[in-house]
Amino acid sequence: MSTAWTSRYALRTKGIKSSAIRELLKITQRSEVISFAGGLPAPEVFPIQRFEEACHRVLEQNGASALQYGATEGYEPLREMIARNMARYGILAKVENVMITSGSQQALDLIGKLLINTGDRVLVEGPTYLGALQAFNVYGAEYVSVPIDDDGLRTDLLEKSLRSGPKFMYILPNFQNPAGTTLSEGRRHELVLMADKYGIPIIEDDPYGQLRYEGDHLTPLVVLDRENLRRDNGYSLGNVIYLSTFSKTLAPGLRLGWIVAPPEIISKLVQLKQGADLHTSTFNQFVAYEVARDGFLDQHIKLIRQVYRERRDVMLQALDEFFPPEVTWTHPKGGLFLWVTLPEGVDCHELFQRALKENVAFVTGDSFYADNSHEGGRHMRLNFSNANREQIREGIRRLSVAVKDQIEQLHLTLAGADV
Ligand SMILES: Cc1ncc(COP(=O)(O)O)c(C=O)c1O
Repeated sequence: MSTAWTSRYALRTKGIKSSAIRELLKITQRSEVISFAGGLPAPEVFPIQRFEEACHRVLEQNGASALQYGATEGYEPLREMIARNMARYGILAKVENVMITSGSQQALDLIGKLLINTGDRVLVEGPTYLGALQAFNVYGAEYVSVPIDDDGLRTDLLEKSLRSGPKFMYILPNFQNPAGTTLSEGRRHELVLMADKYGIPIIEDDPYGQLRYEGDHLTPLVVLDRENLRRDNGYSLGNVIYLSTFSKTLAPGLRLGWIVAPPEIISKLVQLKQGADLHTSTFNQFVAYEVARDGFLDQHIKLIRQVYRERRDVMLQALDEFFPPEVTWTHPKGGLFLWVTLPEGVDCHELFQRALKENVAFVTGDSFYADNSHEGGRHMRLNFSNANREQIREGIRRLSVAVKDQIEQLHLTLAGADV
């Protein structure tokens, strides 16, 4: 008799759906489709030769250690390098504040494991990173969603949601995924002050902070928290756990991210990570260290900024040129995405199907809302890092055909309803 597997699935798997994005990506991988759907870095900027040399050196000089089991916290020289790099942004973490994770996606999962009981509310931005919702959903999270505007989270609307007692806030201050918006300096201060007032911790997810194409770097929440609220604690970080990753600055295939947290939280996370994967790939950590060292990472980030800034500008210009005036979009100062708002009544799923006929793809906005709000129905997320200049221009032209068509359909329907 064959096992009825589905009847044996744990309760926590109920309601877990395959990511809408993963499903969309399958369709959009046809070669004739220009895809703005994924969040993929540009493969042309992967430093393949540097990786080749680094692999060689690691195996030659440290082969036995690189192929051995390692410490759960991560490879110490890499953690030290991360701490040194973060100090430039004011994050004064010591090595014991840094834990390496298998991508920052694992950091989100471990944080869910650490903090969420079934039914706990997590305060998120509307819209927010879909992968975080997927990570938290497994632990039975419920959500309170606070809208964003061009300056990031609407801190003026925060207080009411904080009074409802969320377990923590999950915030994307820089070039937010999906909207590309950045939390203003003023709102950063307000946010950490309110976090302190209500005793609600913040998870600051910052995969894109180093990919700024214009303007000045803004102070991370973890720094404001330490400086403003816990000055006397020195290096011991306070109310904020900070996450970042090498996925967008070196290569996502490495699966290397990190968490910055007070030592007592790191030691709890270490226990949870042991149950998940013992440690992140030792070999990949050695190689990443070898690739990044001697200033290479800084140089490489400069190159990435240059390539992505150009692609962003091409997309913004093409949107100006081809899109009708009733459509608006964000002007991200960094990161990988921009966010398009269509006129009320346009359905992004119908638009997606129409766009596929033009051989162009994006991600529908509703995927990024925790509360199934209808707000997402008229948005699309566009990625500008993965396609080249010609593809971006042509893709936006194709998309404009689909957008104009959908808007015209909407007008016809409304006119019909008036008769
Ligand atoms: C906001 C955000 N957090 C986390 C991740 C996960 O990144 P990683 O590749 O480090 O797991 C992503 C990936 O796109 C992201 O956009």
